[in-house]
Amino acid sequence: MPSPVTRSFLRTLKSRNVRANVPSVSEATAELLAGLVAEYGISSLLELGTAHGYSTVWLASAVSESFEKHAGAVPSVITVDFSKPSYEAAIANVAGAGFSNIVTHVFADALAYVPTLAGQEFDAVFLDAEKRSTAKLFSLAWPLVRKGGWMVVDDVVKFKNKMEDFYALLAERKIPYEIVMTDPDDGVMVFRK
Ligand SMILES: C[S@@+](CC[C@H](N)C(=O)[O-])C[C@H]1O[C@@H](n2cnc3c(N)ncnc32)[C@H](O)[C@@H]1O
Repeated sequence: MPSPVTRSFLRTLKSRNVRANVPSVSEATAELLAGLVAEYGISSLLELGTAHGYSTVWLASAVSESFEKHAGAVPSVITVDFSKPSYEAAIANVAGAGFSNIVTHVFADALAYVPTLAGQEFDAVFLDAEKRSTAKLFSLAWPLVRKGGWMVVDDVVKFKNKMEDFYALLAERKIPYEIVMTDPDDGVMVFRK
C-alpha cells in the first residue's frame, strides 16, 4: 500500500479532482488494484484512461513497492489519454508523486494506440476510458494480457447501460469474469487470463 507520503499526495490529488470535476477511481477501487499488484507481483501495466493520473499514481506506487519486495521485473506503467489537458496534468502529478521513472504517458486515442502494441505482453491492463468504447478496447487489449495476467474494467455497474455491447461480447465469447462491488453503487469487472 502507498507510503504515508504518497497517501497524502493521493488524498490531495483526489480532493483537487473532486473540486474540479475530474473523474478518478474511488479509493476502494484503487486499493483493489494495488492489492492485485501486491498479491500477484504485477510489474508491467497498461492503463487506458489516465485523466489527471490519480489511478496512475496508485498503480505506479504499487508496482514500485512490489518490485522492492519481490525483486521482480523492472516495473513499468504505460498510461494513455486522448485529452491534452489531462495528459499534461497527469505528467505533472506523476512527477510530483515521484514516479516519472516508472510511468510512460501516451497522448493518443487508445483505439488507435493499443493495436500498435501488438506483440507486447502486460501483467495487467486497467480499462477506464470512454464507457461506450469498452467492448472495442477490451477486444484490442485482451490479447496483450499475458497468460495468468489480469484485466480490470471500471464502472461496470453504474454505466452498464453504456456497455451493453461489452456484456454481449463477454457472453458470446464465454469469457469468465467476476464483478467486485468496490463501492455501494458501482463495481469493477476482474478477469484472469
Ligand atoms: C474515467 S477517466 C479516467 C480516470 C483515471 N483512471 C483515474 O482514476 O484517475 C477517463 C479518461 O479516459 C480518457 N479517454 C476516454 N476515451 C479514451 C480513448 N478512446 N483513448 C484515450 N483516452 C480516452 C478521457 O479523456 C478521460 O480522461
